[in-house]
Amino acid sequence: MVIKNVAVIGAGTMGSGIAQVFAANNFNVTLVDTEQTYLDKGIKTISSSLDRLIKKNSITADQKDTTLKNIFTATQLDSIPHDTGLVAEAIIESKSAKLSIYNKLNDIVNQDCIFASNTSSISITELAATTRPDRFIGMHFMNPVPMMQLVEIIRGYATSDATFDIIKQLSISLGKTPVEVFDYPGFVANRILMPMINEAIFALFEGVASAQDIDTVMKLGMNHPMGPLTLADFIGLDVCLAIMEVLYDGFNDSKYRPCPLLKKMVAAGKLGRKSKEGFFKYD
Ligand code: CAA
Repeated sequence: MVIKNVAVIGAGTMGSGIAQVFAANNFNVTLVDTEQTYLDKGIKTISSSLDRLIKKNSITADQKDTTLKNIFTATQLDSIPHDTGLVAEAIIESKSAKLSIYNKLNDIVNQDCIFASNTSSISITELAATTRPDRFIGMHFMNPVPMMQLVEIIRGYATSDATFDIIKQLSISLGKTPVEVFDYPGFVANRILMPMINEAIFALFEGVASAQDIDTVMKLGMNHPMGPLTLADFIGLDVCLAIMEVLYDGFNDSKYRPCPLLKKMVAAGKLGRKSKEGFFKYD
């Protein structure tokens, strides 16, 4: 199956990054979100990311223009072309919200269309169950999508070999490195990363060190490009909490209990960069 048209559902941090990568590789992208303001913000994020790539001499101004021209924005799912070959879903980490989107999409796009979820941790098998389990897969990109090489590819219980092969080749054609992981809570990336971030929040909560010093230890001691608390702000504290809750519910193991400080900050609307304040403040 040759995929030319891709639909990206969700114009947030991850969805706009995914749309950018497909559009930069000459796919026709329909970027869908519920409000035009979200779409405008997503296009602005894409444009500034492309400007950074121009500054690095990674792309030309013409390539930026072509990439943006390859993206069509829409606030209605039924604006998605019937001959779309891939839907990449990147909406909030809510199973019910995702299932509702897939059920609507099932009647809009053709039967060959593959559904790929960018979910950070929710079971692909469960997400696939109500629509097209053989043509459903996890395609888990890393933030910031234009910069990060990894795509975790997660088969659901019924994902076909053909679907897996198409998505693996597609990831490579995007210049990414696909890694197959199995469908268990958190897959690999967040099964390892998020408990580390949660532990950093516990260290802050228990007064082991300041937020700045916790991040300094991991940057200078472990050569991490970002400290765990800065990274949590970058990912979004609401996303971090949702992932910890999936791990906690999925494994029924208290070691995955979310830190009370994380829960309190999310409840207070301190979500990190996207709310201009998390463990640190942002302009
Ligand atoms: N678009 C284009 N270029 C970008 C960019 C973007 N979004 N972000 C950074 N860059 C470029 C910058 O222009 C810069 O280029 P030069 O070095 O040539 O000037 C380069 O990348 C480095 O950027 P910065 O100088 O801003 O800062 P940095 O050196 O720290 O790199 C970073 C930024 C790549 C984000 C780096 O900090 C990093 O790798 N952080 C860790 C990110 C990470 O762990 N991501 C995974 C999170 S988990 C996840 O995403 C999955 C999930 O389910 C939650």
